[in-house]
Amino acid sequence: MKTLKISSFSEYEKQYEFSVSNPELFWDGVASTFLWKKKWDKTLTWNFEEPKVRWFEGATLNITENIFERNLPLKKDQLALIWEANDPSQTNRTYTFEELHHSVNQCANGLKALGITKGDRVCIYLPMVPELTIAVLACARIGAVHSVVFAGFSATSLSDRINDADAKLVITSDGLNRGTKQMSLKELVDEAISTTTSIEKVLVLKVTNEECPITESRDIWWHELIQNQSIICPAEVMNSEDNLFILYTSGSTGKPKGVVHTCGGYMVYTAYTFMNVYQYEDGDIHWCTADIGWITGHSYIVYGPLLCGATTVMFEGIPTYPEASRFWEIVEKYNVTQFLTAPTAIRSIMAFGEEPTQKHDLSSLKIIGTVGEPINEEAWHWYQDNIGKGTCPVVDNWWQTETGGIMISGIGGISPQKPTFAGYPLPGIQPVLLNQEGEEIKENEQEGYLCIKFPWPSMIRTTYGNHERCKEAYFSQYPGYYFTGDGAKRDTDGMYRIIGRIDDVINVSGHRFGTAEIENAINQNELIIESAVVGYPHPIKGQSIYAFVVCEHVPNDLNEARKAILLTVTDEIGKIALPEKIQFVSGLPKTRSGKIMRRILRKIAEGELDNLGDVSTLLDPSVVEDIVTNRL
Ligand code: WT7
Repeated sequence: MKTLKISSFSEYEKQYEFSVSNPELFWDGVASTFLWKKKWDKTLTWNFEEPKVRWFEGATLNITENIFERNLPLKKDQLALIWEANDPSQTNRTYTFEELHHSVNQCANGLKALGITKGDRVCIYLPMVPELTIAVLACARIGAVHSVVFAGFSATSLSDRINDADAKLVITSDGLNRGTKQMSLKELVDEAISTTTSIEKVLVLKVTNEECPITESRDIWWHELIQNQSIICPAEVMNSEDNLFILYTSGSTGKPKGVVHTCGGYMVYTAYTFMNVYQYEDGDIHWCTADIGWITGHSYIVYGPLLCGATTVMFEGIPTYPEASRFWEIVEKYNVTQFLTAPTAIRSIMAFGEEPTQKHDLSSLKIIGTVGEPINEEAWHWYQDNIGKGTCPVVDNWWQTETGGIMISGIGGISPQKPTFAGYPLPGIQPVLLNQEGEEIKENEQEGYLCIKFPWPSMIRTTYGNHERCKEAYFSQYPGYYFTGDGAKRDTDGMYRIIGRIDDVINVSGHRFGTAEIENAINQNELIIESAVVGYPHPIKGQSIYAFVVCEHVPNDLNEARKAILLTVTDEIGKIALPEKIQFVSGLPKTRSGKIMRRILRKIAEGELDNLGDVSTLLDPSVVEDIVTNRL
């Protein structure tokens, strides 16, 4: 991997140029540094019409052999994983590469004992404990397809995801620790699987040691299953294009989609981008604060760092517990060299002032990253000044669940940086800005719809169980291009600044929700006839959710009604999707054909009341006046 590390900007320019003019040769070179059981016959087959994208076809491999067998000779005793508990007084847990290898193998053998075989889907619903990483890698070891569901999602969401993936097994825990709270998880799993048919077994890990319901014939304790398993487990031979995992994400329509990533391409791209963006060197300690329930955790806590032989840190808790200096305490404790977090976390810590950042020695840091949503200029500078101490490069990583890895980003200390700009595309990535007509905007200093015109190894292959949906969502808007859903601007230097979603997707604290998904949840409440939700700017969360709801009779006690609606959303999706504002309205602004004019609602939510645009074409223009008058 060493030779693939870009070490100067001119080298970046050269690699980039080569990757565009000779993509197959370029990726052949990157891929050849991995351990393949059999080399590929063809580097790339693709068309964006079906879409069909195949990388390294004919090759066989196992991604965990590239984490373990490939790294063990040199790194057997180096730490692979450092786990920091929510409670700072609780002892941390660490695993060397050899120890992690053994734990993964034991878990893999346990899964086999439960009847899990290659291709089976395993749903993992666990808090941020080491066993989450172990379970993910154990699935990969035996060729089972993991589908990690963030432990903040509700029973209904879990059930939907289990059903969609037809999962055979759920791996979960009694409960979880989060700040001052302890929450149970097992009850939610029981509720979820009361409406599924595919689940045969539930594997339960003790985390809180609180009592939880157990169904003897179905539930198995993790510690009992693992106890006598062998530490040796041969890696299943996988084709490059076999599914590695499914991860659900929200789009502008319908229920969340299962984004499918495959073994070979995902491996090559996550390792390559980790190595370069974070300029990994032996001995570095990488900490990404995301949850493994999201793609950032998959790619830059688990796969990317471990493939490169890096030490990766996993944190169970939250930035502000027990104090606002917790992140910096951890950086100091483990001498973290690369730190990656989300703008929303930066802003929430900023609110406590600079003092907490001064309590700890942050001099180990070499590169700091931001990911998940556009970062505002103030937060960018605060981060660079107070955490990077004015010297660490800040890398802004733009990418998506669907892209598998970082697409547009600074390369730490190598490429120029500009506050709020993600920067240049990484080698192999060919972004374009399209105008309304779908034509490529060639000039700089322009805004447009961000699309990608050539495949890269870790791109989405399909949406699980429904390929048509994949085509519809990403490849139909502008035929011949992968459509990201984001708007972006390119400056005079050709650097990209991501403006944000241009579709009906809201990004709340770096979490992605479809407006339709939240509306469907709200509509489950018996008070509601219909609803419309939009995002509006929020100082910490980036965006917040504003819901306009129509009831048959306006409730007498609005606050009680709001509480009931919030409860419904909690049950349907989870607390992470709660609307900040709920306004009861007499009707929604609709066109004569019945389409909700979200544009108007967005303006109202943002407070841009002078600039609502033409409302005369609405079915009933008077509803707008009513909404404006009663705006929250
Ligand atoms: C959407 C993808 C990929 C990491 C976690 C989110 C927004 C992501 C940035 C960034 C501006 C960003 C985009 C994108 N986004 N990173 N650095 N600057 N916006 O993954 O849940 O799939 O969301 O997050 O709008 O489309 P995700």
